[in-house]
Amino acid sequence: MDSISTAPAILQPLLDMLRLPLEEIKIEKVVDLVSYDGAIAAQCLRLANSPLYGRREIETVRSAVMVLGLDRVRTLLLGLCMNRVIPADKWVIEPNAFWRHSLGCALVTQRMARKIEYHEPEKAYLAGLLHDIGLLVNSVLYTEGFRECLRIAAEQQAPLHVIEEQVLGFTHCDSGRMLAEHWRLSKELVDVTYCHYDLSLLAAPGPLACLVHLSDLLCRARYLGYGYDEIMSVDLGGDAAWQILVASYPALGNMDLVRFTLDIDGAMDQIVATVDSVFGSKNVAVSAAT
Ligand SMILES: [Fe+2]
Ligand SMILES: [Fe+2]
Repeated sequence: MDSISTAPAILQPLLDMLRLPLEEIKIEKVVDLVSYDGAIAAQCLRLANSPLYGRREIETVRSAVMVLGLDRVRTLLLGLCMNRVIPADKWVIEPNAFWRHSLGCALVTQRMARKIEYHEPEKAYLAGLLHDIGLLVNSVLYTEGFRECLRIAAEQQAPLHVIEEQVLGFTHCDSGRMLAEHWRLSKELVDVTYCHYDLSLLAAPGPLACLVHLSDLLCRARYLGYGYDEIMSVDLGGDAAWQILVASYPALGNMDLVRFTLDIDGAMDQIVATVDSVFGSKNVAVSAAT
């Protein structure tokens, strides 16, 4: 856990920034964070000058941040921080697959949070983005065992956490909780990392855990999982998390589920394009023989 917690110095201020609504984030703070690390600043400039953003000549970090937009910059910062923490040979899940899933969950959780008028949609975004940090812990600390888990899960098209439990005796939810506590994330975020598959582990599951649980299901069912196809069927309306949310947020009961899932499908391309523009486009398929 110590090897992971020696995160780059900008991680803590970055986590603080991620908690704020976009409109409250001061552009100068973002520019400072990006400028703090030469490699990250260079990556921002490279991306802002790429053909994706119109081939303008961007020479300052400030202009790069303006061109890319705060949303993309904060995701880029988090991704680069994590890439720095995890040596290239320790990534078990292909990084692009991991970020597509994490960003997908962040955006879906945030959308759903807005639909039910949850008071902190930005926190919902952060919860979705960080819910699977345990996968990174397992990659770094249990590389070979975790590689075996992914191989078996891909071969059986089974949920990864079920195979982790069988092979390792614990899941990325357990290790995610430890890292979340280590980073002193809020209790709600710790609960999300720990309980996003099994809400019954919590005496009173909060809305964030329920929202992330549903988003994770939706993303995995829409091929934004962990780099392999799972055999799964999703019945959002019949899910315990849905029932819990409806009891507190009646707006959810009126939501047109078909329209919402179509909406999400429309957003998936945007998610894939965002991750590919930030981390480079790569084939995310996992070979069962890895
Ligand atoms: Fe997970
Ligand atoms: Fe997940």
